[in-house]
Amino acid sequence: MKRRNFIKAGAVGLASPILLAGKKKMKVNKNNPIIVSTWLHGIPANEASIKVLKKNGSALDAVEAGVRVTEADAENQSVGLGGRPDSEGNVTLDACIMDSDGNAGSVAFLQNIKHPISVARKVMEKTDHVMLAGKGALKFALENGFKKENLLTEQSRKEWLEWKKDNTIKDSWGPNDDHDTITSLAQDNDGNLSGACTTSGLAYKLHGRVGDSPIIGAGMYVDNEVGAAGATGMGELVMKTCGSFLVVELMRQGYSAMEACNEAVDRIIKQEGGKTKLQVGYIALGKDGSIGYSSIQKGFQYALYKNGVNKLFDVKSLL
Ligand code: GLY
Repeated sequence: MKRRNFIKAGAVGLASPILLAGKKKMKVNKNNPIIVSTWLHGIPANEASIKVLKKNGSALDAVEAGVRVTEADAENQSVGLGGRPDSEGNVTLDACIMDSDGNAGSVAFLQNIKHPISVARKVMEKTDHVMLAGKGALKFALENGFKKENLLTEQSRKEWLEWKKDNTIKDSWGPNDDHDTITSLAQDNDGNLSGACTTSGLAYKLHGRVGDSPIIGAGMYVDNEVGAAGATGMGELVMKTCGSFLVVELMRQGYSAMEACNEAVDRIIKQEGGKTKLQVGYIALGKDGSIGYSSIQKGFQYALYKNGVNKLFDVKSLL
């Protein structure tokens, strides 16, 4: 037997029912747009996305329009304008975007630009690269018409000055934190999927720290044949498990969107020795329109637009 045939035969012989199920063609949800976004700020984000999808716009345009609302919201201290700064008082932003053709763009450690998600989209559409970081990302943004602005609001500056007094890091993204990165996943009338993820990252992080949000496959991932997934919470835990890619790959193998999110969260809990005070939440959207969500700690919420209703839901945590 030729080596390739042998491997094929062996794989079928050993495959679990789950792996075989993954070979089934997935039903495609069409003409029934769905948007799922992280946290309470997902509600207004979804509203903006709905407007795009109702005009028969693409999932890509929808997720970008949605998370731009969160980025522009000065009251929100975990994304874009008004985001909490790093330990040196700089607001540094991370974002990524991915479309239904598998194209991706991202920016990391970007400063002074209110809409990193739109810069990420430009990276995807105008360059052969996936990620631009720091000064290079800023230069690219300015060359592409984005305006430089101060993103540190008075509120975030005051809180940072308070934090600096004793230099202790607040238990950000622990069980009591009710906001964070926005990840938004959408399916348009054609059944195509896209995703966007944007954040100012961990409050008072070391200068130069980059989280999971601009990393394709960690903070967010889209495979238009299978589904899309996105993360929120402590990026280090997501990066170490390739979280969003893991969720999508589990879905490919036949896990439901929900089972895949639970398994990815469980993987983190196991890696952390069975307990952690940190928070990670996942959302997933299957090609068939199914939804998944899971989190380590209680408090995680997701906003779902489906069948004409945009609503916030609580997630039952695994710990
Ligand atoms: N999830 C966002 C971050 O860790 O920066």
